[in-house]
Amino acid sequence: MTLQVQSAVSLKPFNTFGVDVQAKAFAEARSDDDVRQALAFSAEHGLPLLVIGGGSNLLLTADIQALVLRMASRGVRLLADDGEQVIVEAEAGELWHPFVLWSLEQGLSGLENLSLIPGTVGAAPMQNIGAYGVEIKDVFHSLTALDRQTGQLLEFSLGDCAFAYRDSVFKRETGRWVILRVRFVLSRAAHLHLEYGPVRQRLDEQGIGQPTPKDVSLAICAIRSEKLPDPAVLGNAGSFFKNPLVPAALAAELKRHYPGLIAYPQDDGQVKLAAGWLIEHAGWKGYRDAGNGAGVHRLQSLVLVNYGNATGLQLLNLAQRIQNDIAQRYNVQLEMEPNLY
Ligand code: EPU
Repeated sequence: MTLQVQSAVSLKPFNTFGVDVQAKAFAEARSDDDVRQALAFSAEHGLPLLVIGGGSNLLLTADIQALVLRMASRGVRLLADDGEQVIVEAEAGELWHPFVLWSLEQGLSGLENLSLIPGTVGAAPMQNIGAYGVEIKDVFHSLTALDRQTGQLLEFSLGDCAFAYRDSVFKRETGRWVILRVRFVLSRAAHLHLEYGPVRQRLDEQGIGQPTPKDVSLAICAIRSEKLPDPAVLGNAGSFFKNPLVPAALAAELKRHYPGLIAYPQDDGQVKLAAGWLIEHAGWKGYRDAGNGAGVHRLQSLVLVNYGNATGLQLLNLAQRIQNDIAQRYNVQLEMEPNLY
């Protein structure tokens, strides 16, 4: 099948901020061959190729002078099952949360804490998605990617991906590889992580003493839905900033000034600060720009929102004002999480 390439396509439906910019060219990839055809088209027309997944970690600040390729390949399968550990594989275009639900329906444990994260399977390794004490690296087996420079298919093991907090080799070398399919190691027995944040408390409140992975998933869906805006209702890209890692001495000094500061000591001696706390206590929670729709969510200060008509530049400008304010007040540099174009 020949790849269908459209010109001058609005990307509004394809980014969760709902920013209205145009792609010079746009196509959807349903197979490896589609990706190869997109690479050929891009070379032939001298257009860069920008690969996107669910568009949930993107801030688009201008029209995109590129071929935007949305990964839309589908398919999930069990590759191996020894009765304890199971290897499952999903195509890059599969939506993340339905994939998590599928794994739970198979009686598998491992992905429950990552429930309700927007986006696609192929985008998940890019920033090593994480929530409630679990990151994708904890359940990752391997992935297949296409090297855009050579056209070769490559297998990446856990070590090859160089996963770190919201980071990977794919994020650091943006645009080098196209992730085609990802494999996870899940287990038949439940290995639950309930210690992070309000997860156990929520289950206790429901009188669930011996939770199943499905119970944990439901609890996490409920917690997320209370705090995080649904992109279908209010444009956003989840956490807009990473939680900053700072030296212990700075964390201690800040704690003296701000006893309520939320700080998590790390194994390497650094301290991770809750950026949401810093932003809220700098007065930004619920802030909304006069005259445009850029704002800070009223329940979670780490989430920037588009109340309707904000441009990507207006959202970026708000993010930069927050960064400057946080740097001045606390001497802490906030790093943006979404990819900027
Ligand atoms: N907090 C505030 N004010 C706020 C927001 C948070 O005081 O406006 C405090 C909370 O009360 C809590 C602490 O900060 O004590 C941490 O807040 P929360 O549990 O909401 O998590 P987070 O650190 O803000 C991170 C991830 C989320 C993930 C949650 C749960 C990052 C950048 N974000 O948020 O991931 O869902 O933990 O694990 O690490 C995402 O990356 O898009 C994302 C949503």
